[in-house]
Amino acid sequence: MCGIVGYFGLREAAPLLIDGLQKLEYRGYDSAGVAISNEEGIKVSKCKGRLANLESKLIETPLKGNVGIGHTRWATHGEPSDVNSHPHSNSKISISVVHNGIIENYLKLREWLISKGYEFLSETDTEVIPNLIDYYYEGNLIEAVMKAVSSMEGSYAIGVICSKEPDKLVAVRKDSPLIVGLGKNESFIASDIPAVLNHTRDIYLLEDKEFVVLTQQGVTLLNEMGEEITKEPYHVTWNADAAEKGGYEDFMLKEIHEQPKAIKDTMASRISLDHDIILDKITITKENLKEIDRIFMVACGTAYHAAVVGKYAIEKLAKIPVEVDIASEFRYREPLITEKSLVIVVSQSGETADTLAVLRDSKKKGARVIAVTNVVGSSVSREADDVLYTWAGPEIAVASTKAYVTQLIAMYIIALHFAALKESLSSEEIYDIKKAMLELPTLAEETLENKDVLQKFADQTYMERDMFFLGRGLDYAVSMEGSLKLKEISYIHSEAYAGGELKHGPIALIEKGTVVIACVTQSYLADKMVSNIKEVVTRGAKVIAIALEGNTDIEKSVDSVIYLPKTLDILTPVLSVIPLQLIAYYVAKQKACDVDKPRNLAKSVTVE
Ligand code: M6R
Repeated sequence: MCGIVGYFGLREAAPLLIDGLQKLEYRGYDSAGVAISNEEGIKVSKCKGRLANLESKLIETPLKGNVGIGHTRWATHGEPSDVNSHPHSNSKISISVVHNGIIENYLKLREWLISKGYEFLSETDTEVIPNLIDYYYEGNLIEAVMKAVSSMEGSYAIGVICSKEPDKLVAVRKDSPLIVGLGKNESFIASDIPAVLNHTRDIYLLEDKEFVVLTQQGVTLLNEMGEEITKEPYHVTWNADAAEKGGYEDFMLKEIHEQPKAIKDTMASRISLDHDIILDKITITKENLKEIDRIFMVACGTAYHAAVVGKYAIEKLAKIPVEVDIASEFRYREPLITEKSLVIVVSQSGETADTLAVLRDSKKKGARVIAVTNVVGSSVSREADDVLYTWAGPEIAVASTKAYVTQLIAMYIIALHFAALKESLSSEEIYDIKKAMLELPTLAEETLENKDVLQKFADQTYMERDMFFLGRGLDYAVSMEGSLKLKEISYIHSEAYAGGELKHGPIALIEKGTVVIACVTQSYLADKMVSNIKEVVTRGAKVIAIALEGNTDIEKSVDSVIYLPKTLDILTPVLSVIPLQLIAYYVAKQKACDVDKPRNLAKSVTVE
């Protein structure tokens, strides 16, 4: 996730911007830049890599001035590179912009601006913003920014400077955070509070579509009609450490709560009821797909669990046979890959050694490879034939949460795209699934509200030595992920079993008091799951069920139930994993474990 900082005051802007950006480094980034305005115009300095690279550039060629904007970029549209780094400017460099978020209609805006004679240098969605502002500029920066944002769809927090009005910094937000720091004879904008805490503790928290103008006279707030508004400043009492976590106790909890937005961002500009699915970097055609006889989906850990859901989705919707495997097993088992195979590798980091090895082997054998990854410019994204980025933003906690749900969304997007190419679903069926997918961010928000029962469950179970997860179909796939979450952060032994497998061995482990977490969200398998639940209850198990709203019958068979909002059977994993993540989180907290950095684990496994 990108970081924004802006400064207006009497001091030199560049060092203050760098200081602010350093405070936002925890958000993750792959390039950085600043733009400073003075009487001579706007000067921009930006480059790929760490902030230290930018600092060295600024030592070599200092930028002087008391007004400026700075940015750390986490690549989404376009590789990490000097040219894709922010700030972005119009070609006259009279307007410079930093931006967080995603402009969903940027392709349309870009084409339109090109038809008006504008030129583009980068692959970013952001570059349309300074050009749009330029198009609307008639001597009043705030008016031009207002007109520009009214044509923008998607999410944004932007900071703008203009050489024709060097005494001004304008900013606005929608669905992306932005705050204003109120100093003495100076003011700041930033995407997060830690960036300004060295200079002020008094801030305005901007709401959607609120504009702010920083000038020598102070800070002016405007609503979307351009009318001046007032706001009570918020006095920050907590320290920078807590602020980085956005008020949450840990990054993992913060990332669990970021899931509705991550789901929305991953669908943004790809899924809409008005158009076919748009896949930026997947160029497979109908003809290519006809030649493919089998899909292999390969990944490790959480990403493997997402691939298991992908298998269900692709087979059900696109009717193509899919084999799914763990990368470390797949690479040594002489899989039957040919030129007719399509290999889909899934990796949050894009750097996992076994997954990368599978990608390389598969390419050698002539297979086409699609990478699903969260990191633009990662090894798998560079080496695969096609790429689908999940737009989860950087995941800092070792335990994967928002990366998993966005990988699920990527699986559905691929399955639907293939179904459309193969015409295995009618356009009405595709429409209905897309409609249900677009509801998922709101349903995920609702699911997150259900915390009390989960906390209570954790209080009662954190001393257990073992827990079992049960499910059938997609519920089994999600159970595997729930079990992994629990064991990796709470160190409680747990296993996930397919309900039908119980009788084939595992039921021997069930005794009085054994804790079982049963997922019962697949309507066509619900009766079968209830029978499995009865089998363990009869042997003394304590059962908590995850079920869909309306399935009140389940209450007769279990000790407690977590209800999820209703959605299509195929989409439930996106919601049912949330209570499982929270169970793992609360149990681990009760045990005073370090949830963000569990023992023996690394975020990215780049060795075999
Ligand atoms: O970066 P990747 O998605 O390739 O990582 C694969 C696994 O190491 C990863 O999913 C791991 O299992 C999770 N961090 C567990 O929460």
